[in-house]
Amino acid sequence: AGPCDIYSSGGTPCVAAHSTTRALYSAYNGALYQVKRGSDGKTTDIAPLSAGGVANAAAQDDFCANTTCLITIIYDQSGRGNHLRQAPPGGFKGPESNGYDNLASATGAPVTIGGQKAYGVFMSPGTGYSNNAASGIATGDAAEGMYAVLDGTHYNGACCFDYGNAEVSSRDTGNGHMEAIYFGDCTAWGSGSGSGPWIMADLENGLFSGRGARQNTGDPSISYRFVTAAVKGKTNQWAIRGGNAASGSLSTYYSGARPSGGYNPMSKEGAIILGIGGDNSNGAQGTFYEGVMTSGYPSDATENAVQADIVAAQYAVTSLTSGPALPIGTSISLRATTSCCTTRYLAHNSSNTLVTVDGISSSSSSTLKQQATWVVRAGLGNSGCVSFEAWDAPGRYIRHYNFALVLAATDGSKQFREDATFCPQAGLGGGDGGGGPGSVVSIRSWNFPTRYLRHYDNVGYVASNGGVHTFDAAGSFNDDVSWVVGAGFA
Ligand code: AHR
Ligand code: AHR
Repeated sequence: AGPCDIYSSGGTPCVAAHSTTRALYSAYNGALYQVKRGSDGKTTDIAPLSAGGVANAAAQDDFCANTTCLITIIYDQSGRGNHLRQAPPGGFKGPESNGYDNLASATGAPVTIGGQKAYGVFMSPGTGYSNNAASGIATGDAAEGMYAVLDGTHYNGACCFDYGNAEVSSRDTGNGHMEAIYFGDCTAWGSGSGSGPWIMADLENGLFSGRGARQNTGDPSISYRFVTAAVKGKTNQWAIRGGNAASGSLSTYYSGARPSGGYNPMSKEGAIILGIGGDNSNGAQGTFYEGVMTSGYPSDATENAVQADIVAAQYAVTSLTSGPALPIGTSISLRATTSCCTTRYLAHNSSNTLVTVDGISSSSSSTLKQQATWVVRAGLGNSGCVSFEAWDAPGRYIRHYNFALVLAATDGSKQFREDATFCPQAGLGGGDGGGGPGSVVSIRSWNFPTRYLRHYDNVGYVASNGGVHTFDAAGSFNDDVSWVVGAGFA
């Protein structure tokens, strides 16, 4: 039985069931999600390998070969049509030109489930999905439950990485108009013990870790790579539960009365959000693998059985990289492959901007040779990827800032480490740029995996394929993000 079969048996059926990684009913063999590729704008649906099984990641890999892919729809498996799509503007606008939020990369969150590859939904700041016309989701003070499986190491302190019940208008319509799982280390409202991240409940105008509006030390900091987060609520009663999605059982972090001040009774509206706050606040980041919402307040026993099913599914990490090896500690050069620019190399200049410089060779000045030489380091923000330290400026790394690449000194912040982390993969471009088979790499931003290290007008950026910035232009995108890896010059 899958999670939703278990909820049905418990008398609290799923009214929404979302996952890009697996079927959540043992009999489900329909579409899990839709991806759209950059090369021709075509879409395809990804289904499980078999009824009740893991997503067919190979079908995505084939469809998305040599181009970029975005997750356009996360289908509802419950049969109610409560699909999640690109979230519209609300109280806050998203970064797309029409005020919509960004869509997630289809390849930012690879995992294995029972040894089979699948992709989660890696959501950068600005990314959001919703359904403002959902059916069967709790309204008013009606009872509901929900859980989500998330990446416990991907979070931030911005508002609000949520999954659950929110306003139908994407606007803040007042306390008690939401009931959603929150995950992250935002301290603007509530917090738990330690420094976070925490599972909390977003009840609108407040992230709650317990009954009181501020700190509740019964809500622990989470350090699991895969975390099961659960929130449920009914008349004057709600609970937060959580645990390691890869082993063991759920613990109850809070169970008791509703907070005061407009949260009892609740005024739930019955829309569904993922990755954003109720008012389309979209500064948060996180990774979603699967989640459901139920009708009725699930018993702890039902949730415990769902947790056992999640553990039995065996979520595990897999490689974030592919393509030519970039061994940690080696010195490399990166040569452009676009036909304009095949004699240009990625270098920093004296103003710490990343540029491509023409015609660097052994007879170039030692300053120039050093500026075009990069020492590969373990990724500062995720050791499954890499960071690039300047050969001539130890402690200074390539990072992005406003999506432009700059050379900057470590400042000790998590933001710096994440902005300086890049995941190499086999080159997206068609040719090898004269570098020989297997020499071409494309370098994905870890925290914005829709974005790749690109030269545009000979300046370096992290660019998305056809995004809103000039440097996101779709023309020559694949070539501009494909680089021949060579030995360092210095
Ligand atoms: O409750 C926290 C946040 O406050 C909600 O997600 C958002 O709608 C409001 O800004
Ligand atoms: O970076 C050099 C060129 O600038 C890129 O190939 C092109 O996209 C832009 O015109």
